[in-house]
Amino acid sequence: MARKILVLPGDYIGPEIMAEAVKVLLEVNSRFGLDLELEYGLLGGAAIDATGVPLPPETLERARAADAILLGAVGGPKWDGVERHLRPERGLLGIRSELKLFGNLRPAILYPQLADASSLKPEVVSGLDILIVRELTGGIYFGEPRGIRVLENGEREGYNTYVYRESEIRRIAHLAFSLARKRDRRLCSVDKANVLEVTMLWREVMDEVGAEYPDVELSHMYVDNAAMQLLRAPKQFDVLVTGNMFGDILSDAAAMLTGSIGMLPSASLDQAGRGMYEPCHGTAPDIAGQGKANPLATILSVAMMLRYTLASPAAADAIEQAVSAVLDQGLRTPDIHTAGRQLVSTTGMGDAVIAALRA
Ligand code: IPM
Ligand code: MG
Repeated sequence: MARKILVLPGDYIGPEIMAEAVKVLLEVNSRFGLDLELEYGLLGGAAIDATGVPLPPETLERARAADAILLGAVGGPKWDGVERHLRPERGLLGIRSELKLFGNLRPAILYPQLADASSLKPEVVSGLDILIVRELTGGIYFGEPRGIRVLENGEREGYNTYVYRESEIRRIAHLAFSLARKRDRRLCSVDKANVLEVTMLWREVMDEVGAEYPDVELSHMYVDNAAMQLLRAPKQFDVLVTGNMFGDILSDAAAMLTGSIGMLPSASLDQAGRGMYEPCHGTAPDIAGQGKANPLATILSVAMMLRYTLASPAAADAIEQAVSAVLDQGLRTPDIHTAGRQLVSTTGMGDAVIAALRA
């Protein structure tokens, strides 16, 4: 039976990078006989424009029915004026939450060809291979109560709640430990247990779950130190596990180590391994419509989808090798461009990946 992939291009550069990723997906679909069926849906700003809400019921229904979801990026200044609960980002957060995609995998791998594009010295980043595991459906992003209220003296006050249940921590811990098992067996849990009770519990539960994985070396680090260590000596890390907000921030920082956030894919998985796949970057409104966006993060997200949800590791390998090949050829979008390399457009990069797949 055909497997259904729901494609959600999103806003600004979203449709541009998605067009390239879909080309690549269709290419491996026929090459590897994957029997995938693509359908399209609206999410974020595009959905607001068409239906008035960022996550239309129809999109949610199709997302539930799909075997996997491929997402571009959502949001941007066009919707700055809309009411808070209707912001494009709410569509993204809604789909993550409704589908219980609690496990967000954000690998930061430095392609050796891009060592000169990193803002850090090549010797600090060469060979870098980190996996950030971010809890995605809890923490301060979803905690209640939340809002902006007016106090008795007329002053406004904004508030959010940072909360984690033991079961939520346990669930992400098991995912992180089992992923560490398939790598270098080192897991660093990032928290702020010197200040925040919620992360004191986080640390305790990590230790408890760690007892079930004696073959994985567990360490703990405060988030401020982790941010510093990522920039000072990033290769000390194998797998990092952390809550929703710390993971959001640290994964952007880790992205820059690899030369560009335009290179970073991600997977968001539920308990059964079903998932949504998206680049870590946003909608880049400043370069939208100019053919400057790097489609590789989305193309590499397709590879993750093939590996984690569609059980087609050969197709995933082929895409990753094709990406490496185009980098070998010296092809670069502006975000990773350095002297002596050939500048290509979004489409040019996508075409090059297809050509490498066919070579
Ligand atoms: C990310 C993004 C999102 C997040 C935004 C767009 C809501 O920054 O996927 O990292 O904060 O999770
Ligand atoms: Mg982010």
